[in-house]
Amino acid sequence: MKTIQSLKITISCMACALISTLCAAQSKTAFEPGKIWTDTEGNPINAHGGGILYYNGSYYWYGEIKKGKTWFVPGSNWENYRVNAGGVSCYSSKDLVNWKYEGVALSPNTTDSTNDLHISKVIERPKVIFNKNTGKFVMWLHIDAADYKYARAGVAVSDNPAGPFKYIRSERPNGNMARDMTIFQDDDGKAYHFYSSEENATMHICLLSDDYTEHTTIEKRILIGESREAPAVFKNGNRYYLITSGCTGWGPNPAAYAVADSIMGQWAPRTNPCTGAGGDKTWASQSTYVIPVQGQANSYIFMADRWNKLDLEHSYYVWLPLHMNSKGIPEIEWKEKWSVAK
Ligand code: DGJ
Repeated sequence: MKTIQSLKITISCMACALISTLCAAQSKTAFEPGKIWTDTEGNPINAHGGGILYYNGSYYWYGEIKKGKTWFVPGSNWENYRVNAGGVSCYSSKDLVNWKYEGVALSPNTTDSTNDLHISKVIERPKVIFNKNTGKFVMWLHIDAADYKYARAGVAVSDNPAGPFKYIRSERPNGNMARDMTIFQDDDGKAYHFYSSEENATMHICLLSDDYTEHTTIEKRILIGESREAPAVFKNGNRYYLITSGCTGWGPNPAAYAVADSIMGQWAPRTNPCTGAGGDKTWASQSTYVIPVQGQANSYIFMADRWNKLDLEHSYYVWLPLHMNSKGIPEIEWKEKWSVAK
């Protein structure tokens, strides 16, 4: 009797394993914004506040690893829900839909509470670019204390896109507070750090050094006093576009874009690029990056996080098509399920 029972259990375990292997192996053909997104091994993708690097025929997705219980920081007078910092993950893909887990690109520190990467700290919005002259992959990220008063930018380097990245240091660029951020690498090889500064009231842009690991003193204040965060930058033709969110903690709000003819020139604030129902709250998400689809002139993906503030690990991703309309205005539209045109 016992033998038949254990045989049954063994067979059902084998069936489960086979089903999950088959599911994991089945490749995806479409984006499903806001739904659980699994990697090629069948595990939910854990890469929040992310950014994309295109290198040598592959896309690499870097993001915050959020794992464990979400808690509220006592004494905060705003929505400061937190999860222990888990470092930065890396996934790779050829088609932007099927992502292979490459591992932890930047590890957290579990022993020294004074270390920038200690699990008690905030590690957010990592972005990676490749420097052709040095052959190094350079990661910048927002480093903060639990109460968000440290407000610094951290930098790490690696010889490989998937890491491991070696952390160098954090700093306040030219003495300025630095929170939500992105890095934009222009066609001429120059790279810029866009970051929310001055208690998030004003966005700053700072030119990075030629090796991308330091800030120069070439810095500009834009969107002064407009309280914008979650910057995502892209270029179309000769113009630069910056999409941001308002500052409402983990809660969604209307996005807005700004446009400029040169990065250190005048940035003109414009309207919300999100069109149609739900666009007024960015479909319950917040910008993090705009991906130029390789080989397609007017094809971009708006990449955003749908935060679940009470359970941050289970925050999902909203990736939507972005295109420039005939008047040169970026438009993002909601799609339940969609694919990048081949
Ligand atoms: C909004 C930011 O965009 C997120 O990256 C995160 O810092 C939350 N605020 C924290 O409330």
